[in-house]
Order: sequence, then C-alpha cells, then structure tokens
Amino acid sequence: MNSTEFIHRPVMVEKVVSLLVTGPGDYIDATVGLGGHAEQILEAAGPESRLLGLDLDPRALAVAARRLGRFGPRARLVRANFADIAEVAAREGFVPARGVLFDLGVGSHQLEDAAAGFSFQAAGPLDMRYDPDAPLTAADLVNKLPEAELAGIIRRYGEEPRARRIAREIVRARPISTTDELARVVVRAVGTARGRIHPATRTFMALRIAVNRELENLSRGLEGAVKILGRGGRIAVISFHSLEDRIVKEFFRRESRDCLCPPGLPVCVCGHRAVLRDLTRRPVTPDEAEVRTNPRARSVTPDEAEVRTNPRARSAKLRAAEKVAEAA
Ligand SMILES: C[S@@+](CC[C@H](N)C(=O)[O-])C[C@H]1O[C@@H](n2cnc3c(N)ncnc32)[C@H](O)[C@@H]1O
Repeated sequence: MNSTEFIHRPVMVEKVVSLLVTGPGDYIDATVGLGGHAEQILEAAGPESRLLGLDLDPRALAVAARRLGRFGPRARLVRANFADIAEVAAREGFVPARGVLFDLGVGSHQLEDAAAGFSFQAAGPLDMRYDPDAPLTAADLVNKLPEAELAGIIRRYGEEPRARRIAREIVRARPISTTDELARVVVRAVGTARGRIHPATRTFMALRIAVNRELENLSRGLEGAVKILGRGGRIAVISFHSLEDRIVKEFFRRESRDCLCPPGLPVCVCGHRAVLRDLTRRPVTPDEAEVRTNPRARSVTPDEAEVRTNPRARSAKLRAAEKVAEAA
C-alpha cells in the first residue's frame, strides 16, 4: 500500500469514540485493521492512555504500525485472533481495560486486494482468509464440501434463499479456483442482478464467514472482552450482518440481566448476575435516513458523507455496553 493507504474513513468513528472513550486508560481495538478507529481512540483518550491493537492480517498490521507510529509505545500491535482476547490482553498487560472495540468483518483494504480473494469484482484466487497462514481457504470449501453442506453454509451465513441451486451449480462446475469463476457460476445458477446487489454477494459473504469461523470467534471474543474490562469499562461492536448483530444483541441482553431462569420458577436457581448495562437498546446506524429523506440537504454531516462514499457503512450497526460488575 502507498500514500493512499489511509483514505478509508473508519465507520461511524465519532459515534464509536463518544460511546467507547470515557477517560484515560488502556483501550483494546480487537480488529485494528488499518488503525483508523485506533488512531481516533488514542487521540480522544489522551496522552496517558495506551491502545492494544489486534488483527489476524499481517498486511493490515503493517499499515496500522505506520499510521500509529507517532504514538510510540502507547500503541502496541499484536497479530492474534480476538477469540483469544482475554489471554492476549493479560499477557500484554492490558487488564483491566477501559474500552474494547470490535469492528467486524472484512475491511475495505482486504476487499480491494485481489490477491486476498474476498471480492468477485477483482479476479483473484479463492482465498478469503484474514490470517494468510490459516489452514482452510474458500477454495477448499467450494471444491471439497458435499453439496448439501455447501448449500447449508450459503443459506445460513449468506441468508441466500437460492442456496441449493447455487450449491448444485458449484458442484457441477468444480474445480473452481478463482473469485471471478465462482461469481460466473453463481450468475449461471440464479441469473444476473436485478437490483443494485450482485447475485454472488451473499455466496461470497457466506464463504468468508465460514472460512474465518466469524460467528464462533465473535461469541468467544465477547465473552473474553467482558472478562478483561474494568468496572465502568465499555465494549462497542460494529457489525454488518444480521447474524452478527443478533449475537451481540443477545449477548448484551443476557449479560444485562440478573436471572436467566425460565419464567414461572418461584425462586432463581441460576444465580446469574448482570455484569453489563446495555447502552444502545436500538443499534446506532450511520445517518443515512437524512440523506434519503432530504437528498437536497445543503449540509452534509460526516456520517452522510461516509455513507455516500463508503458503501460498506450502509449496513453498519453499532452497539455498546458498560461493565457494571464482575461475574458472580
Ligand atoms: C473492518 S476491518 C477493521 C477496520 C479498522 N477498524 C480501521 O479503522 O481500519 C476488520 C479487521 O478485523 C480483522 N479480523 C477479522 N476477524 C478477526 C479475528 N477473529 N481476530 C482478529 N482480527 C480479525 C480483519 O483482518 C480486518 O483487518
């Protein structure tokens, strides 16, 4: 990457900073990417604060290192899976943390890198790994899974109603080794796009989620983050997928309740105690509605500009919670 490497505006950055940063302390960016959010968190938290940035992608970490270099030892970057956040934070001396951010999914930097194989818009190998040393690629799934399993992945993670038809066509066309080949196979199965969304979008998203075990990692990451937060510390999560958002919403809801016993029991037998206070009962989204309802509005807020220039921001949902107690 070159001097244009920092052009992507981090998603909802002002909202993230205002929900996450409550004063000086140690912060963790669990998906540091190119370091856009991390930079603003460090700025807002002040000179006594530190930030630990995690990412699986060494190419992203190299960019983040250049971007955050001016903070010296206040910014520490580690190649790690956020599923292991509790162990990594303890090892690096970042417990208790004052705030933890997850900005989930694939970054623009990865979508634009044809060699990483995330996008059907650029011809590249069918890879889709955030961690280039991970054993499983999208090509492995596409070429080796039984048809029914492939259809299950495309339906569940892609929420794709035509999953069976797509899986059948993939199996017929095997072996498939590039992103553009796979995109053509999906188009053959379901026809060309009717709306703005390319017909292969959901299939690619499903494969990416499966390759990187994204939903399992998220659940483990949330559990770990809550363990290492200090009291009053905050967790913020930006998600782009309804399954991810559901996991976050249900986790925050569950951990904000004192008892999880089924209704009707005369006394609590579970002993569960609330450790979080949900700060966003409804997810925060970029201010897109304003753009739609008043397209001729003269003033463009940063979020509106972001949605216009960063299509990835369109589906973003931000939720946050505050730690109120240690687990029982
Ligand atoms: C949307 S980008 C983050 C962008 C970042 N907030 C910024 O401002 O540049 C998501 C990043 O999370 C990383 N990632 C995805 N799953 C991960 C995991 N389980 N552990 C660590 N990093 C992960 C990806 O490699 C990617 O760089």
